Amino acid sequence: MTDLKLRKIPFVFDDVAFIWNPQDPGFSVMMNKISFLAVGFEKYICRAVQDAEARITDPAVLAEAKAFRAQESIHSLAHKKHLKALIRRYPGLQETLDKVVASYDELYEAHPLEFHLGYVGGLESVFTPFFKLLIDHRDKLFAGGDTRVASLMLWHFCEEIEHRSSGLIIYDHVVGRYLYRIANYRRYMAHSGGLFKMMGEEFVRHIDDVPADILLRNKSDQTLPFKARMQSLAGVLAAQLPWHDPVHEALPDYFAEWTGRYDRGEDMTRTYGATLQAA
Ligand SMILES: [Fe+2]
Ligand SMILES: [Fe+2]
Repeated sequence: MTDLKLRKIPFVFDDVAFIWNPQDPGFSVMMNKISFLAVGFEKYICRAVQDAEARITDPAVLAEAKAFRAQESIHSLAHKKHLKALIRRYPGLQETLDKVVASYDELYEAHPLEFHLGYVGGLESVFTPFFKLLIDHRDKLFAGGDTRVASLMLWHFCEEIEHRSSGLIIYDHVVGRYLYRIANYRRYMAHSGGLFKMMGEEFVRHIDDVPADILLRNKSDQTLPFKARMQSLAGVLAAQLPWHDPVHEALPDYFAEWTGRYDRGEDMTRTYGATLQAA
């Protein structure tokens, strides 16, 4: 049976700034893009997994699928709250959100369930090595930023690590064809990459008080240690090998710290970061 926990965390964003970490505007923009992407991608995940459930014959896999879908829909609700605050300040960003969601909806209509489960399994399997890099360097990336956004992202990344195996468990059970998933991997990455580019252009259209060159960035303005970046890249590549099992992935120490704090009943809406950056 599944070990996934459903945690509803009462985030409030109100007047949060677009550049929520003034020490790292590029990273602020990148994380905002992840908020937009999360709403579209997690809706897509929930549709695909729900449609897959009718084909699941193993009760343990079905329990995993339901818990996975429930976690993703809770993430999506929290990111919608974040985006609502940004859209209040920049109303044109509603169009950006609509475009991201429409892109996933169109993709869903255009391909069979096998394709979508491959997308979900393939992308979710690279999250752990990538998010580990960000979590391990949280002192550089998040510490100087608005605690509300920092805490949202760290919660989400920890739960992505927690359900790191779910997408592949479902794909392997329902579809099971490794070569089909790998053959489509470039298309999955091209779709996500295209959305990042589109979001940058949208931000330039709708946000008038942040320079365009910052809005087009997709990474931190800081340079993380070379060795850590290479380890993360190696993990991303290894995640597509046929024998890869996310269960054996190296996890950030912070994962245990975060879940421990949650279990002790701490306020997880403000668990990391510093100041409140009002818009
Ligand atoms: Fe998620
Ligand atoms: Fe996920």
